[in-house]
Amino acid sequence: MDYIWNVTGRCNLNCKYCWDIFKREKEMDTLNAKEMIDRIASDNCEMLLFTGGEPLVRNDLFKLISYADSKNISNIKICTNGVLIEKYIREIVDSAITEIHISLDSLVENDMQYRGYRIEKILKNIELLKSKARNNQKIVLVTVIDVHNMQNFEDVLRYACENGLFVSYQLPVKTDESDLNLYVDGMNRDEIEFLFEKLNEYHKKHRETMDYFTRFYFLTAKKYFLNNVIPTQCGAGTDFSIISPMGEIYSCYSHKDRLMDCSQCFNQKCLIWFRSGERARKIIDLVQ
Ligand SMILES: C[S@@+](CC[C@H](N)C(=O)[O-])C[C@H]1O[C@@H](n2cnc3c(N)ncnc32)[C@H](O)[C@@H]1O
Repeated sequence: MDYIWNVTGRCNLNCKYCWDIFKREKEMDTLNAKEMIDRIASDNCEMLLFTGGEPLVRNDLFKLISYADSKNISNIKICTNGVLIEKYIREIVDSAITEIHISLDSLVENDMQYRGYRIEKILKNIELLKSKARNNQKIVLVTVIDVHNMQNFEDVLRYACENGLFVSYQLPVKTDESDLNLYVDGMNRDEIEFLFEKLNEYHKKHRETMDYFTRFYFLTAKKYFLNNVIPTQCGAGTDFSIISPMGEIYSCYSHKDRLMDCSQCFNQKCLIWFRSGERARKIIDLVQ
């Protein structure tokens, strides 16, 4: 089981499309957070992604990372907006982090409108990280593609290719918290088709630059968004689960209800109940 942990709801940016459903949730203190690590480690957690909010605003983040490492969680990732990389460069490089995901939607100033931070500073931080990161620390640029950057998001891919970095892209997901219903309101069908065509070309040309998640996501999203085919086997709750700042475990981001309410999910065939609902619930019981 992989875990995506929103370690905090706090963030130093206020991105327009942000889906952060845990913004107002209180976070666990260090002691409880370590207990959570004990529990997921005993559930054979292989991959733990620290995200948020902004994980780097949590001042015990590196303690938690080294604790997870001591519990033999082998693949430890963080997802950051990149603003605080310079401040924590030493800690990042010396830590057990295996992958650093940095959100970057384009190389031009429209990032400023959406993420509210100057792109030059983020690019400088990426350069710094690249120069200091250990060989076994992978740097992945995460791009959310929608109407605001669909004309120039490929600059990120080019930049990644030139600099030996990876790219993982996502399509915007609507939640009650995000300001805009970008996917539905922002793009018409022609645009969506055009986008998938473009992505398809990139897949063929730049396989080695694409994060593995991107390939899987592409196939699933294409089926869902273009042909309205619901993926038959969603990984939520079976391959991965989500931990909220206060330590609740959810199967996916699409709805904030606990596992009990999975029936509301768009994916009627989701296997959570049959395959690992029991397992996920066991962890919830432990937490409570
Ligand atoms: C919520 S952020 C948290 C980590 C960190 N603060 C950051 O900005 O990378 C995690 C990732 O989710 C992406 N994201 C945020 N809102 C989204 C949405 N509505 N749909 C798809 N991806 C989204 C962000 O671009 C970012 O790459």
